[in-house]
Amino acid sequence: MDYAKLKLDGERAEPLYLRLEAALEDRIKSGDLQPGERLPSERAMAARLRLSRTTVANAYRELESRGLVRSHVGRGTFVAAPPEAEDAPFAWRGKVASSVAYFGDGFSLRRLMQSGYDPNLISFAVGAPAFESFPVEDYLRLTEHALRRHAPAALGIAPTEGQPRLRRAVAERFKTKPERILILSGSQQGIDLIARCLIEPGDRVVLDRPGYVGAIQTFRAAGATLVGWDAARADLDELEDLLVRHRPKLIYTDPTFQNPTGRVMTLRERQDLLKLAARYRTPVVEDDPWSETYLDGQPPPPSLYHLDARNIVIHLGTFSKTLAPGLRLGWLAASEYIVDQLSAIKQHENLFTEGLGQFVIADFLLTGRYDAHMDSLRRAHARKRDLMRRALEAGAHRLAFRPPRGGLHFWCRLPAELDSRALLERAVGEGVAFAPGEIFYPDAAGRNELRLCFSCTTSAQIEEGVRRLHNAIAAEAEKSPARASSSVPVV
Ligand SMILES: Cc1ncc(COP(=O)(O)O)c(C=O)c1O
Repeated sequence: MDYAKLKLDGERAEPLYLRLEAALEDRIKSGDLQPGERLPSERAMAARLRLSRTTVANAYRELESRGLVRSHVGRGTFVAAPPEAEDAPFAWRGKVASSVAYFGDGFSLRRLMQSGYDPNLISFAVGAPAFESFPVEDYLRLTEHALRRHAPAALGIAPTEGQPRLRRAVAERFKTKPERILILSGSQQGIDLIARCLIEPGDRVVLDRPGYVGAIQTFRAAGATLVGWDAARADLDELEDLLVRHRPKLIYTDPTFQNPTGRVMTLRERQDLLKLAARYRTPVVEDDPWSETYLDGQPPPPSLYHLDARNIVIHLGTFSKTLAPGLRLGWLAASEYIVDQLSAIKQHENLFTEGLGQFVIADFLLTGRYDAHMDSLRRAHARKRDLMRRALEAGAHRLAFRPPRGGLHFWCRLPAELDSRALLERAVGEGVAFAPGEIFYPDAAGRNELRLCFSCTTSAQIEEGVRRLHNAIAAEAEKSPARASSSVPVV
């Protein structure tokens, strides 16, 4: 649209900003300005119309409060919708803070999580440990013990940093100081707190590509510009290049049985990454839900946190992948200064983390029951991993993958002609769900990759679910003009 021709109604005895608002509203009504179209920046509009920037800013704000435009930090102001009639329902759309607004576009983590609750679906979409391995008897016994022995503390108002007993137990296991531990309501809360604490809109964040969808969404919501670092190659020269070019505020990485690729960073790569982080004075967020979930008897290399001599690493841990995500208990380890800062933000968020579970888990750790549970969980997971591997290999249109040595997922590549989003639609029709590759990319790549969780379905469901998946692949390949070949692509 030619904004220079935008005429403000000279007859109206209203402030200029309201006249500009009315003129833009007319253009939106008439369709000259279409939903999705970007308005000129405040500065550019002010220059074109010879108005002050404050006048333009006020007009945009008025339009936004009515839901007609939306501002996105760092991206500009966009036409959102045509104006509504006076008696139209109240426009909440215009009230939601743009920093947190959800636009209903894209395949969200929330939708992924819902798939686990559809009784008609076998869901390989989300990552949870084998439910039948949950130590029910121990959990009941330790809950009763916590209620009898620690009732006021376990049920009352508690420190935001977490119950001292659990901080001590986690610190002992993780070999650090209790003051450096912050208990979280799931490690996702830690990612959110870190984003709020460290990220200003427009900051850059270097993160694994592909990488954890919850981190992508959270850093993006904080206004960060995301810069992907190829997680499968873990090339340190590439990382240095990104640090030099983008000067990011932080590096987020999941170095051990990475989600989704399953890759484990070698000791050397870890050391080199820390050297670079120190040289460029860039904090590292080490997200590590998986290091206890190794499957072939071989624990992974030491964590970045333990290799770090410069206090530069914030380490995230969780009980979601070793006990159950429904417990909503995670933790982070970091410098005392950062623990203090994050605790202050956490207090705004949820005051403190659920108390009873903290006592129960502390006792799991302190009595050695957690170690016993992990031994049997690893055996159960290894059996399921092997079962899914055999089932996947049996299909005619084979998927390319490396069997995971830890974590809970297979990361698979489809024949190049197939699109994992279209396949998902078909697969859901067949009664099976998975996580489509593109949600793990900050830039919507990954259209022919997909992730399958092997641990939280029964053996019978694994066999049946993979059979349905093969049917869906066969049907999609049939439809594909290039006719997907049955040869195995290289991962
Ligand atoms: C890499 C990664 N980080 C964090 C989380 C969040 O876990 P929690 O349940 O502890 O919030 C997940 C969950 O899938 C994950 O895969």
